[in-house]
Amino acid sequence: MLGISRGKDLIGLDIGSYSIKAVELRSKKKDGEDAYELKKIGYELLPHDAIVEGTVIDSAAVVETIKMVFDENKIANKNVAISISGNSVIIKKISLPAMEPEELAESIIWEAKHNIPYPFEETNVDYAILTPPDNAEGKHLDILLVAAKKDKIANYSNVIHQSRKNLESIEVDVFALQNAMEVNYPEIIHDKTFAIVNLGANITNVIIIEKAVPQLFRDLSLGGSFFTENLSKDLNISFDDAEKLLKGLPVQNVQPEQLQTVLNMNIQNLMEEIEKTFSFYEAGEQSEKKIEFIFLSGGLSKLKELQISFEQKFNIKTESLNPFRKIDFDEKKFDSIYFEEMAPLFGVAMGLATRKMDK
Ligand SMILES: Nc1ncnc2c1ncn2[C@@H]1O[C@H](COP(=O)(O)OP(=O)(O)OP(=O)(O)O)[C@@H](O)[C@H]1O
Ligand SMILES: [Mg+2]
Repeated sequence: MLGISRGKDLIGLDIGSYSIKAVELRSKKKDGEDAYELKKIGYELLPHDAIVEGTVIDSAAVVETIKMVFDENKIANKNVAISISGNSVIIKKISLPAMEPEELAESIIWEAKHNIPYPFEETNVDYAILTPPDNAEGKHLDILLVAAKKDKIANYSNVIHQSRKNLESIEVDVFALQNAMEVNYPEIIHDKTFAIVNLGANITNVIIIEKAVPQLFRDLSLGGSFFTENLSKDLNISFDDAEKLLKGLPVQNVQPEQLQTVLNMNIQNLMEEIEKTFSFYEAGEQSEKKIEFIFLSGGLSKLKELQISFEQKFNIKTESLNPFRKIDFDEKKFDSIYFEEMAPLFGVAMGLATRKMDK
């Protein structure tokens, strides 16, 4: 994706604005099928404001944290796959008549120039042909066009180089999540319509997939850091205390009812934004669209009330996306309680690590 990809075993490295996550897998055969085993995993918090709105501000802090993730977990492989997200990444689904590959390459450039709101010279463009649904007549190609600003890519590749790692692949968060889902929920991906909502600190990725074909990708400016900011403002407490409250820890002089009122307001706002995205999908195209499942991931999805709020608001079965569901691991090396705690955080990193193993 987005210009570089060389096909080696890679470390999936998810550089979020709140934390950095790393996953290393080993591919193997199990009952004749491709399977994965977890080799290494790493997680470190980033200092507040090191990455703001998807831009690396304090590159020294980010480099330091990447090095810690590798060193403390004895990850020796230096080849990494990262992903980017947010408003300098554009994903568009376009439909073109079926054509020869050379013609297609030209058409893609034309489409990119007309569909992407940035100067073409300032963007890296890539595309993927979507598998046509069973009933398609094969007369057109559904294509996902992906474009990212070059300065955004440079911003992230710089910290990888400064950390003395080799940047082998750049993806977008939403594709990595889709991939984590494909590996771990094969029975659902092929015949259901579902949404993945990855609730991070600054960005919430929403993906809607219909029978293995992605229909909608959105990166919304929503997430846990907005909850923390509002808690801090409305309850007149420090950012750190707000963070504790969000994680369910007690803070002096804050009454549970006060906390609940502010939390409810934030949850309600979040639900309204997600509803707009879901409605956009359901209102589009001719046939009746219905989301059958919602999978939640990301740090904010650990907020207990959220799963219930989703179920109540949308009346759709909602569960936590477990990116380790089909991944084997040595129980002597990895603690299963730790996994349960951490699973919501590793969707993107796992998707990045699995993707490369396929190639
Ligand atoms: N137990 C918890 N309960 C509620 N919220 C939590 C919990 N643990 C972490 N969070 C919140 O989750 C957010 C971090 O999630 P995550 O690690 O997925 O973000 P990120 O990938 O680093 O950020 P982004 O992708 O948005 O740049 C923070 O806002 C944090 O406050
Ligand atoms: Mg994230």
